[in-house]
Amino acid sequence: MEKSNIVGNILFTEEQIRQRAAEIGRQIAEDYAGEPVYLIGTLRGAVVWMADIMKAIPNETEVDFVMASSYGSGTTTTGVVKIKKDLEGDIYGKNVIIIEDIVDTGTTLKHLKAYLADRNPKSIRICTLLDKPSRRIADIQADYIGFEIENLFVIGYGLDYDQKYRNLPYISYLEG
Ligand code: IMP
Ligand code: MG
Repeated sequence: MEKSNIVGNILFTEEQIRQRAAEIGRQIAEDYAGEPVYLIGTLRGAVVWMADIMKAIPNETEVDFVMASSYGSGTTTTGVVKIKKDLEGDIYGKNVIIIEDIVDTGTTLKHLKAYLADRNPKSIRICTLLDKPSRRIADIQADYIGFEIENLFVIGYGLDYDQKYRNLPYISYLEG
């Protein structure tokens, strides 16, 4: 899908995002009641959010990454998801939290969750910076959501368009 390179207004500032990460961190601490957690970030988009979230969690924490990509022609996903980089560690019996940048159609995450569930962790939850529920196709929901957004193509804070804009220290969107 071709996008303009016109960057819109700021939707969420770094300060707002950090504050939200702190709230979610407190929620996670409460929900897991002192048990260790195993954070799995999805490359590459989730790294900036993951850095905030991991600092906000007081529990004993392991950090790992996966890279999954869903194949499709142009703007439509076929639902075929490939794991391009697998975990380094063993998640058997652990409390896994997948850290995602955005849940859009949900296709990638649905497959990733099933793929990880096969390894029999103790639990799996999903923590996403952004949620675009109006675009959902797959039957999947995040457990911890930074912010819900309308149907905009967002950039910054890890999110890219054509590999650009990931370094913006805030979330914005591309016009039309
Ligand atoms: P899904 O499988 O459709 O949920 O696709 C999720 C992936 O598509 C995300 O992890 C992002 O990498 C990418 N994506 C979806 N919406 C946006 C957006 O608005 N901006 C940047 N990337 C997006
Ligand atoms: Mg992604």
